[in-house]
Amino acid sequence: MFDSVPPAPPDAILGLNESFQRDDRPGKVNLTVGVYKDESGVTPILDAVKQAERLLVDRETTKSYLSMGGDPEFNRQVRALLLGEQNPAIAEGRAVTIQTPGGTAGLRVAADFLVRNQLSSRIWCSNPTWANHHNVFRSAGLETDGYEYLDESGTRLDAAAMLESLQSIPAGDVVCLHGCCHNPTGVDPSLDDWKRVIEIAQKRRWLPLIDLAYQGFGDGLESDAQVVRRFVESGLELIVVHSYSKNFGLYAERTGAVTLVAESNTAATTAESQLKSAVRANYSNPPKHGAAIVATILSDDVLRRQWLGELATMRERIRKLRSELVAGLAARIADRDFSFIESQRGMFSFSGLTPLQVDQLKSEHAVYIVRSGRINIAGLNASNLDRVCDAIAAVV
Ligand code: LMR
Repeated sequence: MFDSVPPAPPDAILGLNESFQRDDRPGKVNLTVGVYKDESGVTPILDAVKQAERLLVDRETTKSYLSMGGDPEFNRQVRALLLGEQNPAIAEGRAVTIQTPGGTAGLRVAADFLVRNQLSSRIWCSNPTWANHHNVFRSAGLETDGYEYLDESGTRLDAAAMLESLQSIPAGDVVCLHGCCHNPTGVDPSLDDWKRVIEIAQKRRWLPLIDLAYQGFGDGLESDAQVVRRFVESGLELIVVHSYSKNFGLYAERTGAVTLVAESNTAATTAESQLKSAVRANYSNPPKHGAAIVATILSDDVLRRQWLGELATMRERIRKLRSELVAGLAARIADRDFSFIESQRGMFSFSGLTPLQVDQLKSEHAVYIVRSGRINIAGLNASNLDRVCDAIAAVV
């Protein structure tokens, strides 16, 4: 039976990571998958995380299953992180949260919830979007389509085209929005643009599904939640998928959440029961460890402060690397302006490099970036920056 199964195409991001591991050229540089690396090229375990783990070793009394919706304390803490402690939607019981194994499973559960309850059959993603969005949504049975995002340069937002595109999306469809630090481009709409997006959502009556995987990596923990909070203030119903892979460095612990905000608390409670039913059909209940770490840090003033400091260090380092990359490219390439890299936000930069140039970076210089031209800025450091700038200068 299995003889007839064709090989799956390599994954656009994780597949490259695998070919990087197989490459034995010295000095190779991996700027593909979105993981933060420190100056020595290591993805560190945050000190706040290590300390929380020590506390957990002492405090944990059982490894019995969590409930389908996960750890209630984690859910309460991350909902407040997302919406703000005093958000009326929380007090009114209109915001419900379930823990999920990372943001990816959160997206899948949200999509299953929409399909199983016949709420929608189509979702619109920015063009471009995270390489796995279409894959996850289609696997759940949603049809996917795209809305305009970038201008001709491929490195800046075309706000007018995006808004026009969003205007034409029919009522009842779902629109996937990146709450901050757009993946793969690093290009975010301004708060004025978001105001228009909210007005359009209200008028056109499509449902926002906000993917928020980089809270704290853009301008700060609170600023990066502004877009979600404005949507909630506007009275719109929405779903937010939240990830703690990046901001807590918990990649392998698969720690995420889905928060659904409804018009009434009865609608929210009923929706929560359906989200849990989708969980049961997928993985029964979520893993415990990552969520326990996040809940421990967020509920302890000292650990929380320490985490905020470590998050700020990661954010500031990425900003510094953006400036260094721009300066390095300016020194080598006189006739092309790369200053847009500094106004992009989060881990990634859409560089404007063509697939051919990306292939040359890999084959001739052992510098790996995603074929769309996405560079993981957080993978740069003092020892590889010159090599990367030289390689880019050679291929453009
Ligand atoms: C990325 O975009 O590189 C990350 O979100 C990791 C992944 O799973 O693709």
